[in-house]
Amino acid sequence: SAAEKGGYDYFMLKEIAEQPKAVADTLLGRIDASGSLTLDEVRIAPGALREVDKVVVVACGTAFHAGLIAKYAIEHWTRIPCEVELASEFRYRDPILDARTLVIAISQSGETMDTLMALRHAREQGAKVLAVCNTNGSTIPRESDAVLYTHAGPEVAVASTKAFLTQLVACYLVALYLGQVRGTKWGDEIRAVVRDLSRISEEVEQVLETMEPVRELARSLASKNTVLFLGRHVGYPVALEGALKLKELAYMHAEGFAAGELKHGPIALIEEDLPVVVVVPSPKGRSVLHDKIVSNIQEIRARGARTIVIAEEGDETVVPYADHLIRIPATPVLLQPLVATVPLQVFACELATARGNEVDQPRNLAKSVTVE
Ligand code: AGP
Repeated sequence: SAAEKGGYDYFMLKEIAEQPKAVADTLLGRIDASGSLTLDEVRIAPGALREVDKVVVVACGTAFHAGLIAKYAIEHWTRIPCEVELASEFRYRDPILDARTLVIAISQSGETMDTLMALRHAREQGAKVLAVCNTNGSTIPRESDAVLYTHAGPEVAVASTKAFLTQLVACYLVALYLGQVRGTKWGDEIRAVVRDLSRISEEVEQVLETMEPVRELARSLASKNTVLFLGRHVGYPVALEGALKLKELAYMHAEGFAAGELKHGPIALIEEDLPVVVVVPSPKGRSVLHDKIVSNIQEIRARGARTIVIAEEGDETVVPYADHLIRIPATPVLLQPLVATVPLQVFACELATARGNEVDQPRNLAKSVTVE
């Protein structure tokens, strides 16, 4: 009913708008006044966490994209090797797991059969499993050794939005906590990022307040057949997520690529007026990547692409090559997906509406996939 949708036309719009709160709620009570992480609810002893020598993330769909981003954070802050695998592929390749492996199973619903089968397989091999889940008491957390709940509240729309942002927050917390417990050399950076995390919900709010031009742009592209998405580093999974949202909601051909792969094939797809969304990394920190992506934008534009550029405020280098420029607040490099994903959700939702599609219940899809 209209009341359930809180005055919005679709649950998806309501859930997009709820993201600042969902992010804040997922952080609540997990960072103490001194800036240390307190994840007591993760019932795996710090001693056992210090023993971990490999992390494997398993998940499907949007949760898998959260896992891909988690890998950058986990490896950077903990120096523990981390693999990310589609849950549906995981157990069929006889993965190498033992008691020192920490498996993180990410799932909004907690009922996804592929993810459940992957975690059962992991536990049979003696690995410890930590669930990152949005649904209290669901099967995946019940069958895991520990759980870190995301506090997104119920997500009704089939296309995942607020659950994704909170999965990212939970994964950052796990990565930072592992770093804290293991005392890596990144102590100062970890403390700074924890501070930045506590501001991130306002930054998500700021993005939401500037989405009207994105909606207009989406409407103007309603008759297109294809949209490509490019990103690098943590922007690459963001590109994959932008493409998945567009497939699910707009039923358009959409693909995400690592921008560095362009010249290895995908650039052949570029033709006159093809919309290409590019997620630009922060010019600080990974500045080498930033400059490389700016040359990618130049290359595709020279071949006729219509460039839709998502870049940090203050990044002026992209301006001459952007047919459309979407600004996001500056954040630490690893946290950028929390703000960069939001315009892509709005974009897909508006395109779906413009094409007359059912936003909350896209064809052929179910909210949780409880069969393998
Ligand atoms: C995302 O928009 C999807 N509808 C889908 O990919 C989803 O993320 C996936 O099925 C995993 O679901 P889960 O998080 O409930 O396990």
